[in-house]
Amino acid sequence: MGSNLKSESGSKEALEGLFDHLWQDYIRSNPQAKRIYDLILKREQTVNPGTKALTNDHIALRTYDLPLVGIEALAKHFRNLGYEQGGEYFFEQKKLYARHYQHRDPSMPKIFISELELAKCSPFVREVAQRCVASVSDSLVSQPEILWAGRLWPADHATYEKLLAESEYAAWLYAFGFRANHFTVSFNDLKSFKELTELNDFLRGSGFALNTSGGEIKGNPGELLEQSSTLAEKTKVQFGDGVFEIPSCYYEFARRYAGQSGDLYQGFIAASADKIFESTNVASHRG
Ligand code: NI
Repeated sequence: MGSNLKSESGSKEALEGLFDHLWQDYIRSNPQAKRIYDLILKREQTVNPGTKALTNDHIALRTYDLPLVGIEALAKHFRNLGYEQGGEYFFEQKKLYARHYQHRDPSMPKIFISELELAKCSPFVREVAQRCVASVSDSLVSQPEILWAGRLWPADHATYEKLLAESEYAAWLYAFGFRANHFTVSFNDLKSFKELTELNDFLRGSGFALNTSGGEIKGNPGELLEQSSTLAEKTKVQFGDGVFEIPSCYYEFARRYAGQSGDLYQGFIAASADKIFESTNVASHRG
């Protein structure tokens, strides 16, 4: 085996370890994702008993656009393991900028990283973010562990509520810190569902609430990407001023279509992602 091949299989192992850390952390704060995963896997096994796992389309991470922890700082850990930058996306209203990263091996999930553009936020949001990031060490950011490090600063619920009034994204990041915001199942790799609507019906029938902002399915075959997601479940979070139940993470499902080249589209649709971001909205849980 040549040294190139050896380092390639080494980085694949490292990536799988990294994804496992992200997944274990994700299902700890979002046990409904594990229940959904198991349900879909079981159904897949009725069609193909050899199915051992579901394939991820992408994993999404959130951060602030400060140099220490911005997209580049987080993406570096994926670049080191063979990922390259794909598209970039702008969410004017939500004051977000995002990029996706993809691996040469198409079975590897894409990584979608968004960052809050603090210069466009109020002085309050900016000051809270700067205070949070001031307690993050350079040495931690230089390790892959930063990706699932969670909240690295003291937080109180009063500040969370005040952030929420301005930006759901800022409030989520303040409460949960660095971790996967969502995992996304690749619908194309499922054999037991013909249409995304069928999967949505199956989830609803199993008692899971779906995000209906912008319709249950965001995007369409013409845009080469259809996505749906659960609503984030509520989880108890320990704040400095008590324990509060707030929306944590959601689970997403993506179906990709082939473009004119014949290859499956690998990008994201900003307008659809804009609505998907709302899966962690507190308001959608009140309705
Ligand atoms: Ni997503």
